[in-house]
Amino acid sequence: MADHAILAGKRVLLVIAGGIAAYKSLELIRRLRERGVTVRAVLTEAGARFVTPLSVQALTEDTVYRDLWSLTDESEMGHIRLSREADLLVVAPATANLLARMAGGMADDLAATVLLATDKPVLVAPAMNVRMWQHAATQANMALLESRGVLRVGPNDGVMACNEYGPGRMAEPMEIVDAIAGFFAAESHRPLAGRRAIVTSGPTHEPIDPVRYIANRSSGKQGHAIAAALATLGAEVTLVSGPTRLPDPAGCKVVHIETAREMLAACETALPADIAVCAAAVADWRVDGASDRKLKKDGGGPPALALTENPDILATLSRPGEHRPALVVGFAAETGDVLTYATAKRARKGCDWIVANDVSPGTGTFGGSDNTVHLIRADGVESWPTMPKDAVATRLAEAVAGYFEGK
Ligand code: C5P
Repeated sequence: MADHAILAGKRVLLVIAGGIAAYKSLELIRRLRERGVTVRAVLTEAGARFVTPLSVQALTEDTVYRDLWSLTDESEMGHIRLSREADLLVVAPATANLLARMAGGMADDLAATVLLATDKPVLVAPAMNVRMWQHAATQANMALLESRGVLRVGPNDGVMACNEYGPGRMAEPMEIVDAIAGFFAAESHRPLAGRRAIVTSGPTHEPIDPVRYIANRSSGKQGHAIAAALATLGAEVTLVSGPTRLPDPAGCKVVHIETAREMLAACETALPADIAVCAAAVADWRVDGASDRKLKKDGGGPPALALTENPDILATLSRPGEHRPALVVGFAAETGDVLTYATAKRARKGCDWIVANDVSPGTGTFGGSDNTVHLIRADGVESWPTMPKDAVATRLAEAVAGYFEGK
């Protein structure tokens, strides 16, 4: 549980949309105010059918903002100011409808307008029927919002007001308070502020001809998670990504490339940087003299493809020189004798750290969501327990922050 002391003096703009869970938002206001949070509320038209403006007003001890067109609301506080005079916007309950309007960039009522006009972080607490939550449209809207940096708490599994069972219940008020405290704690923990980082991720595609290419099975999950984790700790991150199915992580500048040579060029353009993490599965070879026309079956048998070596991005960035990042981290995917090979790789590439993982068949590392890694530094090896790739990323970002502490 996050430390609630951090909440004192914070300003939350609470958007209450129309769902049966809106009654829990009254409790949420009380719990936040008890902890010294100033709560100002926006109530949608549908929201006002579930809780009365008077209750919200009494609990916030402030005007309840309801109407985009109200002269009173506008003269007291324009919607732009309303959306910016807060440290965090919290949408609870966040209905399927409001999430869809947010994802679509609509501004058709005060709540949606405020959420579109804000330059502040947004936390949503979805609440809806289980089928509505599981619907592909809602899932796509939620994923899009999260890729843009919207934070989420819940929904929880349980019996719903409509007697169905499943995910869709709004998080409990204290869980939302915890999520808000967690947000402010993370926001104040930015040890990498002022540091620049380059992260490579995903596979590369090396063309054979305009329609065919050589690729590999890298999903990019680990690299993308590392970029996001470094950004969370305050670093200014350029993520150079090969083709993946992943959304661009929030808070990073993303450069999309296809080939190893494009990846190297993008990394060099992103220099100078303090940190480089090479998590991409760069193709070792490309086709020498790829055809600029589609190769045809002309009866003369298959073409002979001559391969030539790709530049080694990790080794290039590790080379001593004016622009060498202070900390260069490489990855070693091995299928046995992981530590021996990875230690040798660290020396060969000239990087500072190697994150080594076992990708033997059966470990599920490629494309999976868990990873078991060893962090190899000059002074020894740290073996981490198996954990989700997001957690590996967070721990690595913390280790990077530790390296720069006091420098
Ligand atoms: O040599 P190997 O591919 O096993 O090394 C893996 C490490 O080197 C990873 O960090 C990977 O991102 C990096 N690498 C690179 N450019 C290459 C090949 C590998 O940056 N051409």
